[in-house]
Amino acid sequence: MSASVTVRVPAKVNVQLAVGAARPDGFHDLANVFLAVGLYDEVTVTPADEPRVTCEGPGADQVPLDRTNLAVRAAELLAARHGIAPDVHLHIAKDIPVAGGMAGGSADAAGALVACDALWGTGTSRAELIDICAELGSDVPFSLVGGAALGTGRGEKLEPLDVGGTFFWVFAVADGGLSTPAVYREFDRLTPAAPAPEASPALLAALRDGDADALAATVTNDLQPAALSLFPSLRDTLAAGTAAGALAALVSGSGPTTAFLARDQVSAARVADALVASGTCRTARVAQSPAPGATLL
Ligand code: C5P
Repeated sequence: MSASVTVRVPAKVNVQLAVGAARPDGFHDLANVFLAVGLYDEVTVTPADEPRVTCEGPGADQVPLDRTNLAVRAAELLAARHGIAPDVHLHIAKDIPVAGGMAGGSADAAGALVACDALWGTGTSRAELIDICAELGSDVPFSLVGGAALGTGRGEKLEPLDVGGTFFWVFAVADGGLSTPAVYREFDRLTPAAPAPEASPALLAALRDGDADALAATVTNDLQPAALSLFPSLRDTLAAGTAAGALAALVSGSGPTTAFLARDQVSAARVADALVASGTCRTARVAQSPAPGATLL
């Protein structure tokens, strides 16, 4: 057994997040077009006498270090399936904004699963790993597979999508977080009769063609009005990025991170500088997509 295993896992942005009405189980049916972006957390697992989790990096103080941490639950679920004790030290090196709507917690769960499978030699099939991911959370399967995918059901049923080029993004990290369940509740309040969600053929074509202008014209996030209602100052962030030349500006997932599509790397750097100078966000990060899913280092 090797001494430790490290897995790198990407953040995501939703280029389309179509949300239907609340289901009897409380979740919402989605047409969720995920795109993995090149901002990564790294999860390292090392054999230990008892389960332990540590975290470093921006926002690490907001990451729970108990069993509510999704990465801990991932290790426990895998261990339980194989009748072994989840005695590992999980270390999370965070670079994905915490509680930002970029699936950082989901990334850590997918990373912990792949890392523990390698450390313990449990040889779990990819299909079974994806099933465990779906049990952990709606966005976790996508963190495992990366690239681009259409998520249906509550977002966990994935169909891979072709992406015909590189897209350049800027992410404005807000001061503070938003609770995903609270954003969905606000969505329900604002949208009493949400239609059944459907993927946009024009958006899927824009991804396939690698066409940034066409993607900019088709990105949508049905959770955006709810996120703006709970976090009104995000309107200023969106306006600052648009004024700086972003092709599109939207809330990332349930927010409060905002995402800006740029024409190229130079334009992305300019938009990031303008966002920071505007004082409407805590920091801005530049990243490209698509990015690979969970990868053993
Ligand atoms: O699946 P996950 O644990 O990530 O979901 C977090 C919360 O987000 C859920 O408890 C629910 O309130 C909301 N959610 C939803 N519909 C989805 C996905 C998430 O209502 N499809």
